[in-house]
Amino acid sequence: MKYLFFITTIVLMLSACNKSANNEKVLQNQIDSLQSKLDKTYKPGFGEFMSSVQVHHNKLWFAGINQNWKLADFEVNEIQENLNGIKQYCRDRSETQYLPMIDPALDNIRKTIQQQNSTAFKEGYINLTNTCNTCHQTTKHEFNMITVPSLPPYSNQDFKLHHEK
Ligand code: HEC
Repeated sequence: MKYLFFITTIVLMLSACNKSANNEKVLQNQIDSLQSKLDKTYKPGFGEFMSSVQVHHNKLWFAGINQNWKLADFEVNEIQENLNGIKQYCRDRSETQYLPMIDPALDNIRKTIQQQNSTAFKEGYINLTNTCNTCHQTTKHEFNMITVPSLPPYSNQDFKLHHEK
C-alpha cells in the first residue's frame, strides 16, 4: 500500500512537471510572437521628428514676433515633445547623445516668453537657431541649415493675438 502511494505520488509529480514544461513552451511562444510584433511596430525616425521640430521652430518665430506668448509657449513645448520622442525612439542613433546641447537655448527662450520680452525673445530665437545648426555640424548634417524664417509654414494659421484672456 505504501508502495502504491509512492508510485502515485511520483506519477502525479511527473505529470505536473510535464504540464509546467508545456506551459513554459506556450508562454515562450507568446513572448516570441509579441517580440516579433514589437519589432514590426512603426517608430518615427530621427528625420521625421526633425521635420516636425522644423515646423514648430518656424511657428515659434511668428508667435513670438506677434507677441502671442501663449502660442509661443505652446510651440516651444511642441519642439520639446519631439526632442523627447527622439530620446525615446532613436536610442540606436549615435546623434541622439548630442541632444542635450539644445537644453540651455530652450530654457532661455522659455524665460523670454514668460517675461513677454520681445527683444530678448528675438535674441533667444537666434541663439536657438544657432544651436540647431551647431548640432547639425557636430553630427555631420551641416547641409541642413536652419534660418530665421521669412514666411510661416502654412497660410491657414493666424499668429496674431485676437483674444487676450
Ligand atoms: C542632436 C543634435 C540636433 C539638434 C539639437 C537639432 N538637430 Fe536637426 N537634425 C539632426 C540630425 C542628426 C538630422 C538628420 C536626421 C536624419 O537622419 O534624417 C537632423 C535633421 C534636421 C532636418 C532635416 C529633416 C528632413 O528630413 O528633411 C531639419 C529641418 C532639422 N534637423 C531641423 C532642426 C531644428 C529646427 C533644430 C533646432 C530647433 C534642430 N534640427 C536641432 C540633429 C539635430
